[in-house]
Amino acid sequence: MADRIISPKSNDDEGKFELSLRPKLLKEYIGQDKIKNNLAILLQAAKARGEAIDHVLLYGPPGLGKTTLANIIANEMNVAIKTTSGPAIERPGDLAAILTNLRAGDVLFIDEVHRLARPVEEVLYPAMEDFQLDIIIGKGPSARSIRLKMPRFTLIGATTRYAMMSAPLRDRFGAIYRLDFYDLPAMETIVHRSAGILNVAIDLGGVREIAARARGTPRVANRLLRRVRDFAQVRADGAITARVAQDALALLEVDALGLDEIDRKVLRTIIEKFDGGPVGLETIAASISEEADTIMDVYEPYLLQLGFLDRTSRGRVATRRAYEHLGEKEKFEREVRQMRMDMDHERT
Ligand SMILES: Nc1ncnc2c1ncn2[C@@H]1O[C@H](COP(=O)(O)OP(=O)(O)OP(=O)(O)O)[C@@H](O)[C@H]1O
Ligand SMILES: [Mg+2]
Repeated sequence: MADRIISPKSNDDEGKFELSLRPKLLKEYIGQDKIKNNLAILLQAAKARGEAIDHVLLYGPPGLGKTTLANIIANEMNVAIKTTSGPAIERPGDLAAILTNLRAGDVLFIDEVHRLARPVEEVLYPAMEDFQLDIIIGKGPSARSIRLKMPRFTLIGATTRYAMMSAPLRDRFGAIYRLDFYDLPAMETIVHRSAGILNVAIDLGGVREIAARARGTPRVANRLLRRVRDFAQVRADGAITARVAQDALALLEVDALGLDEIDRKVLRTIIEKFDGGPVGLETIAASISEEADTIMDVYEPYLLQLGFLDRTSRGRVATRRAYEHLGEKEKFEREVRQMRMDMDHERT
């Protein structure tokens, strides 16, 4: 799964590559203007007061730049960043150890913050709120709790699953930002920038072609760029034109909207097996042998964004656009006619 070309999740071998392409300053961070404007004010005000900035929660689909933003915040504040993740902090003691090692102003970045264990979360509350650490020493009847004062720090949480976070945790973040898919101009700028850093020859047509098929997701754009570059090197003279990009992406079975085989399978399953829906996510997952979580995190957000899917209380529904994209428009209209006839029938 992680090897799918359009997956917004990071592959194992992509770390080094991502690091070189990751913007370090807010002004290098492309798009997400609302967040950038808000953050700029937050940063400036905190700097002027000489304080740590408020705790920040970043949420949105994978690959949109949450980790990048967290690092930018620390960089702009000129403080150290300690990075960990929800599942990595197993016990309250693990968190206490991390917290006691922070210096004033430091950023603690917790990725997948929705996966923190409940007892760990409970240690986090007073730390976030009052910069106090309640530690229990000893066991059994002799156990006692001591309270430690800790320096003001900034917690940055990131999650792809905002809804799975507990309300008390959410409430303790002073600033909550939702990252959205990038629009086409922003995607083009990102492809252009990355091509410059990687020293890839690419013309405007090539930039457009890659940007349009990258699902509004910088990580996907960077990956497509890398794969198209390989293709250009082997099959063309190394330069990426619109034509070269089209041929390369056709070979990778990424279509003009950036959909791959699994996306099409999801849509086709809903349309053909379940008459367009509504059908539950689990059922879709089972019938194409994918995990429900994968569909929810990786495929569904972009299909929703394209308006190909609707989420209803009774399940997922394929929209007219999805039918059209799959060339099933006729079938859709046939079904609408049939539905109208059925309804007329019921009325009489
Ligand atoms: N605004 C941006 N401008 C330019 N490049 C970006 C931007 N946002 C992200 N990127 C690029 O996309 C890559 C992925 O971003 P990042 O790792 O920050 O995503 P993420 O939201 O943390 O994903 P995940 O949910 O998987 O952790 C980065 O390496 C960076 O090169
Ligand atoms: Mg990340």
